[in-house]
Amino acid sequence: MTTSAADTAATTTAEPKLRLEGVRRAFSVRGRKGAESTLTALEDVTLDIAAGEFLTLVGPSGCGKSTLLDLLGGLAAPSAGRILLDGEPVTGPGLDRGLVFQQYALLPWRTAQGNIEFGLEAKGLPRRERAERAREYLALVGLDGFADRYPHELSGGMKQRVAIARSLAFDPEVLLMDEPFAALDAQTRESLQEELLSIQQRTGKTVLFITHGIDEAVYLGRRVAVMTSRPGRIKSVIDIDLDRSAEEDLRSTPAFAHYRHLVWRELHDEVAQAQRSELARPAPASAEEADHG
Ligand SMILES: Nc1ncnc2c1ncn2[C@@H]1O[C@H](COP(=O)(O)OP(=O)(O)O)[C@@H](O)[C@H]1O
Ligand SMILES: [Mg+2]
Repeated sequence: MTTSAADTAATTTAEPKLRLEGVRRAFSVRGRKGAESTLTALEDVTLDIAAGEFLTLVGPSGCGKSTLLDLLGGLAAPSAGRILLDGEPVTGPGLDRGLVFQQYALLPWRTAQGNIEFGLEAKGLPRRERAERAREYLALVGLDGFADRYPHELSGGMKQRVAIARSLAFDPEVLLMDEPFAALDAQTRESLQEELLSIQQRTGKTVLFITHGIDEAVYLGRRVAVMTSRPGRIKSVIDIDLDRSAEEDLRSTPAFAHYRHLVWRELHDEVAQAQRSELARPAPASAEEADHG
């Protein structure tokens, strides 16, 4: 079923965990001749995310997904509109939201355990408790034996597990994830997807997961929000009603193909649109030089 973002907001009864209300984000950019202009990354983004929901967000490259995550994380402020967490405006970063990015952002001079403890120091936990909690979360992401490894001794998938464990160890109510598995190989990505789903089910966290992968969006999301090309708006929100408890290869079922197609259809025109505006833009100087035709 496809509904507009406005319908979804209207039919939600309980107060949402996260609410985006007419969010706009514009940047002031300098053109080639130094002239300033405004680049609108997001326009009138309206969306509710319920407590304990797993929502995935897809959209063409450059449509404002990361910009939106920065706003939710409190790393930047909207140019217009409001972002509410439990009904209160988001005014900056907070331990109530955990962020996970595509790049792991681990401290190279700290072990896996040390990286997780680092965040807990900010929370003011006593040393023993920090160590215990770090071990607990390493186990949760399947890294029991790796506490003393440094980031350079870990594979990409393991580093991303540490980054996820670090975010979870704060015990944030909301996890904000920006293409966290995009840099991983397909096998590792699938196993982390499964692990994330099971962690989310066990902990009841509210998750907003950004991806440009349709399969990933359908596999993880109870709802998939599709964004338009820039300026990004919520084009539609698709309910994904899959029986995830069934012990089978969910991705190869007809139901999965059905939802995959629904999301693909919504996204298709937007990707084409994004590519058209990319082509219409004047090429950067280096590309012109490279073009001998
Ligand atoms: N700090 C910034 N200053 C100027 N433009 C920006 C800035 N951050 C992002 N943009 C622009 O905003 C648009 C959306 O970017 P982004 O949110 O990274 O897209 P996505 O994550 O969907 O690929 C892009 O056109 C990008 O170039
Ligand atoms: Mg991005």
